[in-house]
Amino acid sequence: MPLKAITLTNLYYSFDSIFVLEDINLEIPEGCYLGIIGPNGAGKTTLLRLILGIIKPQRGQVLIYGVTPEEYLKSEPIGYLPQRISQTIYEFPFTVEELVRSGHEKFKKDNIEWALDVFKISHLKKKLIRELSGGQRQKAFLARAIACRPRILLLDEPTTGIDPYSMDELLQILESLNQDFGITIVVVTHDIATFAHEAKCILCLNRKVVCLGEPQRILKDEYMGMLYPEHTVFPHKNA
Ligand SMILES: Nc1ncnc2c1ncn2[C@@H]1O[C@H](COP(=O)(O)OP(=O)(O)OP(=O)(O)O)[C@@H](O)[C@H]1O
Ligand SMILES: [Mg+2]
Repeated sequence: MPLKAITLTNLYYSFDSIFVLEDINLEIPEGCYLGIIGPNGAGKTTLLRLILGIIKPQRGQVLIYGVTPEEYLKSEPIGYLPQRISQTIYEFPFTVEELVRSGHEKFKKDNIEWALDVFKISHLKKKLIRELSGGQRQKAFLARAIACRPRILLLDEPTTGIDPYSMDELLQILESLNQDFGITIVVVTHDIATFAHEAKCILCLNRKVVCLGEPQRILKDEYMGMLYPEHTVFPHKNA
């Protein structure tokens, strides 16, 4: 039996007493490649922030390898690509290398070089973040997410701004991180057609768990209709 990397039990989270996540129960085994899909406002980003311990649930529990996120993060990193990166970071004269190192100072330099190399941006390492294109910047933040050599990698809409060629590369990198390095990957995405081929498992989230399972079972009209009731043509039909 694989270890449980992430366990969510009876999880509730509200903003201003309105629940945006309700009764979430989920076990993510080590080595899983999970895609999380759902409409805007479904609670996907909130769920990742709960897993990271950035916010605390009003009810229920988050466990990372059997301990709370705070406890886990004392000794182990979790890789995270946030959905929205504060614009103010671009005002500061950070280089790509400094960005990738930031937050991982206690880790060895090898990891920084490795992360830059994985995303093929070693040649950009002396460039300032504000001098990069949107896609290059996204790769720099992806490199930052893996530079700590995490066992768990959480990516919130990683394909934003990535061109079609780089997209194929990114998907291969994620597959290799999962297959070759055994990293548990959780990807929040609206790019359902793409990740239907990549993820081992898909979670459909809309405030509650709508369904969970293998892509070919989940991406059927009956489930997609539950997730996106306002649509009559579902994204996977063009896959
Ligand atoms: N800081 C906040 N204060 C109040 N409400 C918030 C806050 N952050 C998020 N929300 C609300 O929580 C709900 C879930 O937001 P969340 O960002 O988790 O959705 P999401 O599934 O990631 O959406 P998207 O696909 O648009 O990124 C939304 O209704 C949102 O308006
Ligand atoms: Mg989001």
